[in-house]
Amino acid sequence: MNFKQSWQLDPNLVFLNHGCFGAVPRVVSETRRQLEMALESDPIEFLAPERNLEPKLDKVRGQIAELASTSQENLVFVRNATEGVNAVLRSMRWRPGDEIVITNHGYNACNNVARYVADRSDAVVRVAEVPFPIGSPQQVIDAIESVIGDRTRLILVDHVTSPTGLVFPVKEIIELSHDRGARIMIDGAHAAGMLPLEIEKLGPDYYTANHHKWLCAPKVSGFLYVDPKYHTEVQPSAISHPYNTQRPSRSTFTASFDWVGTYDPTPLLALPSALEFLDSLYPGGFDEHLKRNAERLLGVRDMVCDAMGIDVPAPECMLGSMLTLPISGVEPSRAEWLGQRLREDFGIEIPVYAGLRDSRGELLGTTLMRISFQAYNEISDIHKLVAAMERLDVMEH
Ligand SMILES: Cc1ncc(COP(=O)(O)O)c(C=O)c1O
Repeated sequence: MNFKQSWQLDPNLVFLNHGCFGAVPRVVSETRRQLEMALESDPIEFLAPERNLEPKLDKVRGQIAELASTSQENLVFVRNATEGVNAVLRSMRWRPGDEIVITNHGYNACNNVARYVADRSDAVVRVAEVPFPIGSPQQVIDAIESVIGDRTRLILVDHVTSPTGLVFPVKEIIELSHDRGARIMIDGAHAAGMLPLEIEKLGPDYYTANHHKWLCAPKVSGFLYVDPKYHTEVQPSAISHPYNTQRPSRSTFTASFDWVGTYDPTPLLALPSALEFLDSLYPGGFDEHLKRNAERLLGVRDMVCDAMGIDVPAPECMLGSMLTLPISGVEPSRAEWLGQRLREDFGIEIPVYAGLRDSRGELLGTTLMRISFQAYNEISDIHKLVAAMERLDVMEH
């Protein structure tokens, strides 16, 4: 099946970078446009909280609760995962000497939130150094365990890592964190729409995700799950009216995130259209879409590793819809050059990074290239990538 036509991507572009900002199907953009028209035809009515906006938000909340297997009361909306991480970390009261554990595979913006709150309160950030390439999920658990101390109050870890596209063993990491008396926040920016999600079973204290990446919703929207123990503590990054307005029919937690000052709720309200679209791709619906994407990625892995002479960088259980390849034939200082050549000379959009850094910020070595493989991608996209790498003479053999 060829789904390219259902998206709006430039047909001349080989787009292997869905992970960065997602890409919105035509039908979803159309829904969003209609919502915008409805908003602008009567802004007061559309945004009237109790009469109109909140019931609409609750409908979307119900769908996310079902998708993520949790209850609506624990879910609020954020503009993006960065905002979700900010809300949680900046709502906690940090004391000098408290420790926050992050990993070297974490998304820099979110790791920076940990650095910011630590800098302001003389807390300490510990970086778990997870190897890449990687042989087993246990190596992630061991790396995190080695930096947990008596003062660790929070562990912040990606469900699907940004630079390396790895599915981390979050269930085990959550258990480890709770065994050691620390709270845990999972950054699932990529996970929603890539993996089956069962938040209640996983049991994190906090979980945030984007709708605009693998759920294909318009930019920008996402959700934040908070364990009921912390509903009264977590505040949105913009405090607004609900802070001092109690309502018997709505929790302050929900209300506070529902209104963060004037904003455009249409990307969020278009999410049901994106879910309906993803559900329509295969006869088995959304679940089959997730399964097929995962299977197709394994095919990509085998093909590309073989063609480029690269050892498989991670076990199957750590892959979702992204595959990061170490490109040892290109010095990290030339990573940007490679990304630019692929884009400008071959029309291939794919992120190429200088590599992971250790806790002192030193580059760990190998140039990394991350392939995202969404339903619209075809194996011919990978053939074009391999051919371009050959032409640029940057392959292993
Ligand atoms: C793991 C992870 N967390 C957070 C983000 C940030 O997403 P946003 O900019 O939408 O907040 C990204 C973006 O790629 C990511 O990969």
